[in-house]
Amino acid sequence: MILTRAGAEFVTPLSLGSLSGDKVYQELFSLTDEAEMGHIELSRSADLVVVCPATADLMARAASGLANDLASTALLATDKPVLMVPAMNVRMWEHAATKRNVAQLRADGVTVMEPDVGPMACGEFGAGRLPEPDRIAKEVRRLLAGPQGHGPLAGFRAVVTAGPTREPLDPVRFISNHSSGRQGYAIADALARLGADVRLVTGPTQLPVPDGVTALRVETAVEMQDAVKASLPADIFIGVAAVADWRPATRAQGKLKLKGGADDKVALQLVENPDILKSIGAKRKDRPRLVIGFAAETSDVERHARGKLARKGCDWIVANDVSGDVMGGADNEVLLVTKAGAERWPRMGKAEVAMKLAERIAATFDDSQTNAAE
Ligand code: CTP
Repeated sequence: MILTRAGAEFVTPLSLGSLSGDKVYQELFSLTDEAEMGHIELSRSADLVVVCPATADLMARAASGLANDLASTALLATDKPVLMVPAMNVRMWEHAATKRNVAQLRADGVTVMEPDVGPMACGEFGAGRLPEPDRIAKEVRRLLAGPQGHGPLAGFRAVVTAGPTREPLDPVRFISNHSSGRQGYAIADALARLGADVRLVTGPTQLPVPDGVTALRVETAVEMQDAVKASLPADIFIGVAAVADWRPATRAQGKLKLKGGADDKVALQLVENPDILKSIGAKRKDRPRLVIGFAAETSDVERHARGKLARKGCDWIVANDVSGDVMGGADNEVLLVTKAGAERWPRMGKAEVAMKLAERIAATFDDSQTNAAE
């Protein structure tokens, strides 16, 4: 256990040591510690290095590769997986410098958890709270299970799109839709729980990124398409996003002004957005083995879904009847349409739909491996 100088302002080495039953190391150049265990050895003596709480300062130093105290030196010297559990003020978490550092750490292979959202010690509200202990424990267990994760989808990469897209008219206005992103986030979570390496390409939502999932945040359909392309190759692609079908033909540089007359008609020119799902389904090179689309229908669900399956070159379509309260709601009632047939699932929570879908995907890969081996 390593206690930083700032950490020692909050807790004493004695209380940490007696509660954990472990030796607490503090100084890089302490002779007694070095005699017992050098900092290099210390950095490798654990199976997983957990930085908790990870401050903005420590993350900035780790992202730059600085080694100016025992904690940052151990982080630079370790050859073990590293988990950072951030805790800081919301403005600090949202600062461009912190975002840059978090992105750098993730690119370097460090797992950085998303902090919890809520009231802070300083009286402000937002993202930056230390995640609840059970979330941290879950993440530790997941990382200890191995770099590829455990489970039937370990070793598979999945790309999931989620949420709405925003198509700007001018610097302050955009066209969008009511998608909450819940179903897509739940699917990313379920796939990660089964061990897949998941990239979630998400439009703007209020949802926390599920643990173990790498999120790429985008605004427009074109940005979403670029982020999806950059995430390939993958074994599984699931298009859950409610991609805006059109975008304004031009984006005004300055805010559009009213003309002043109540009878003035304003014509808005729209152009079609790229169909991300269709472009993945039609790929000849590097097509994911399983391409899954969603279809929101208000009538004749199976017929429309089957048409979409063929038109977009998908393997499966998850169709839902959105004539009720599905969009933005907690439940979903779906029809799984494959080339072989259709299957109606009972109404259930979006997390249950997600897990059932992830299990179905795992079973399909398992079958195809068995068949290939036979
Ligand atoms: N999709 C996409 N890129 C688009 C539009 C849709 O990737 N530009 C994906 C969605 O993520 C979803 C599926 O295609 O998986 C939905 O197809 P879409 O044709 O938009 O169907 P609906 O939303 O059901 O609308 P409609 O019936 O009007 O075609």
